[in-house]
This record gives sequence, structure tokens and C-alpha cells, in this order.
Amino acid sequence: MAVIVPYTYEHKRERAVDFYGLIEPMKILVATEKPFAKAAVEAIAKVVEEAGYELALLEKYTDKSQLLEAVADADALIVRSDKVTAEVIAAAPNLKIVVRAGAGYDNVDCVAATERGIVVMNTPGQNANAVAELALGLMIYMSRGTFKPGTGREISGKKLGIHGYGAIGQIVGRYGKALGMEVYALSPSITDLSIFENNGVRRVESAEELYKTCDYISLHIPATEKYKKFVDRHLLESLPKGAIVVNTARKEVVNEEDLLAVLGEREDLKYATDIAAACQAELNERFGNRVFATPKKQGAETAEANYNAAKAAASQIVDFFKTGNRKYQVNK
Ligand code: 3PG
Repeated sequence: MAVIVPYTYEHKRERAVDFYGLIEPMKILVATEKPFAKAAVEAIAKVVEEAGYELALLEKYTDKSQLLEAVADADALIVRSDKVTAEVIAAAPNLKIVVRAGAGYDNVDCVAATERGIVVMNTPGQNANAVAELALGLMIYMSRGTFKPGTGREISGKKLGIHGYGAIGQIVGRYGKALGMEVYALSPSITDLSIFENNGVRRVESAEELYKTCDYISLHIPATEKYKKFVDRHLLESLPKGAIVVNTARKEVVNEEDLLAVLGEREDLKYATDIAAACQAELNERFGNRVFATPKKQGAETAEANYNAAKAAASQIVDFFKTGNRKYQVNK
């Protein structure tokens, strides 16, 4: 049932001012093909309710048409990895803000959003710990031969290379150090170099240096034009003997043709990913226990990460409508 709030309400809306000077509330749609945990949805509902807004939920949808229908009267949209394409944006005439509850916003067509003046935000750091824990888990899982009988190896004392030293990468580095690893990191976008020093991490200046030095590479780079297919033959070939690459970022950052080729040429290398490669079936068939992919992206799938990211997304929307706060806008 719609909540009616007085017209004195600060935010000026273009639609739905009725005869009695009343205005319809903002409608916030949560559209999640992979739903949040129940407690996370409850947290969103509380924030939305306290703001006097209306909440609509579209979970586990199986067809794009359901999303197109649901966004038709939405003022704000919260998604996870759901694809917010130009078509979705065109189907949402009232839409003013999209919040990707999570870090990577490559699933949102920011160009189409910007053209319409729609603000796009992410919730940086909110699910970072969950992803970092999974990255470490995958390193250990692969080091122990995917828990099949046989002799594995320890990660302690080995060199860990963090490609992308943002919120997730920094936690991975901290945990790697706690496990006795020697940590190296590459992040050209970090200008305050004291971060590396303060965290006891060796900063490297190029991907070449990182890949040729480290026994483990943990990927935390975004799927931007710069980084699509960035992890290529040249970098993979340069890895030291027995190296393991762990991808909890995006499948697009790895050049899959090169991955197939180099894994075929180098029997010592291993690859574990949280985002199945397009060629995952071929990888599995050809390389068995040397490769692993989670069945469905697991990185942010913890109660804590769900709750934090979902609540932050709702709070950012309310704050945007009430105060104009755009702190986490990514399409500036
Ligand atoms: C992110 O970018 O935050 C992670 O990839 C999590 O994605 P998910 O919400 O679809 O699990």
C-alpha cells in the first residue's frame, strides 16, 4: 500500500501531486536476480520505511521483461550484478538514482544513465571483507590440490601479488601477511604511496614485475576498458613455477584464449575463479584439478556483506533524496 507524505516534503517531484496537495512517496525498487539475505532485505525495508518511502521487491527474476516491468514506476533502483542496460533505463522514466550494492558497477550502463541525468553509485568497501576471505580460501584450496588426496603446499612464506590494491586488495594483503606471506601490490591509481609502506606491503610499479615475482596473484582490478583481457599470455607466461592465479574480480579481466594456451603449455600453473570463464567447461575438461570455478559468484555471499551493502545502498538513496549527497557517485 502506498504511503502518502505531506506535500511540504522537501524533495520536489515532477509527478503525482494530487488534488489535495499530497504527493506519492519515492518508490525504491530492489531488483536482485541473486537475492540478498532476509536480514539484508529487512534492513533496506527499515531505512526505506523510516524515510517515508515505498519499497518494491523483485527477487530471483528469470527474464529481463520482469525487470523492465518493475522499473516502470521506480524512482530509485538497488541492484547487485543485475544488468542495468540502456533498455532498462529507457523503461524507467522516473528513475533518478541506481545504486549497485557492491563494488564493481560494470553491470550498469553509466553512459545511458548519465545521458538521462541519473546518478549511479556503488557501495565501496561494504562487501570487501567477504571477497577477501574468499580469495584467501581459494588460494589455500588450490594449494591443497582442491582437497583431493595427495601432497599440497602451504601458502606461508610464499610471495603474494595483489593486482589492484583497493578496499578488497588491502584486506587480502593484511590476511596474507597474517598467514606469513610476503606481500607485493600494484595499484597505479593510488597516489598516496604511504599506504603501501604503512601496511608493510612492497609496491611494484608494473604488472610485469608483479607477475614474474609472485607465487600467488590475487586479482582485484575492475572490468574497465583498460583492464579487459589485461591478464594475457605475456603476464601468465612470466609467472614463477607453480604459481596460482585467483580471480575474485571479473572474468573479463583475463584473456581466456591466452589462459587456455598457457595452462596447456605450463603444467605447473593453476587458476581459480569466482566468476566462471566463458570457456570454463573447456578449462575443466582439459585441466582438471588445476582449475576451479565456484558454481555461482560467491565473493559477496555472506550474511555480513549482504547486510552491509544492502543497508548502505538504501541509506545512500535516502541521503541522496533528502540532502543531495552524491559522495559515492561513480558517473560524474
Ligand atoms: C561486487 O562487485 O561487489 C561483487 O562482485 C559482488 O557481486 P554480487 O553482489 O553480484 O555478488
